[in-house]
Amino acid sequence: MNLEQIIKKLEDEIKIMFCKESSGHDIYHLVRTKNIALKLQEKEGGDRDVIGVSAFLHDVHRIIQKETGKFCHPKDSLSKVRDIIENADVKLSEEKIKGILHCIEFHEEYSFTEEGISVSDIETLILQDADNLDAIGAIGIARTFLYGGSHGVPMWNPEVGFDREIYDEAVEDPSTIHHFYSKLLRLKDNMNTEAGKQLAKHRHEVMENYLAEFFDEWEGLK
Ligand SMILES: [Fe+2]
Ligand SMILES: [Fe+2]
Repeated sequence: MNLEQIIKKLEDEIKIMFCKESSGHDIYHLVRTKNIALKLQEKEGGDRDVIGVSAFLHDVHRIIQKETGKFCHPKDSLSKVRDIIENADVKLSEEKIKGILHCIEFHEEYSFTEEGISVSDIETLILQDADNLDAIGAIGIARTFLYGGSHGVPMWNPEVGFDREIYDEAVEDPSTIHHFYSKLLRLKDNMNTEAGKQLAKHRHEVMENYLAEFFDEWEGLK
């Protein structure tokens, strides 16, 4: 079975699970992340199956989080991910499945969090870059406001300063604009691969231009 056939089978398996997702981690985020990851793989190498499948299943933890209403770390989604792979009957070797679970477990470690990056295999590094690329640029702007709206976070609160130094995914930012500064604008310098760094440049500029326009309009300058 080739990767495209594997993804098709997995898609049938997770479609219903992700259909009610409306906070930016929907099935199209998985498809885009998978496509970016495979693009990076062409330049950086690594196991194509492990990269494609882990990218396509990396955010199952978000669905568990939504269902339980409690923060769910990616490592707590691994048994569910294994079930999905086994139910889809895609005939991946145990070695590849272990590689996929490893990538998913570590996909949300950033150099600017307390623990820092703790992985060095190219598959995980590519998944992190692909996921982070989909969090920035025009799509990233749309997704972050969507996420904020679905979690009752205001778009901007000028009364709260930008003094958050340590980023922690489990702690909500005071506004969506704050989230750009606590996380999104830091992702460009957090890219692992050369190919990821190249793609991040333009997306970063798109966000910087957007924020400049946002503040000009907020102040009534335009
Ligand atoms: Fe995630
Ligand atoms: Fe993601």
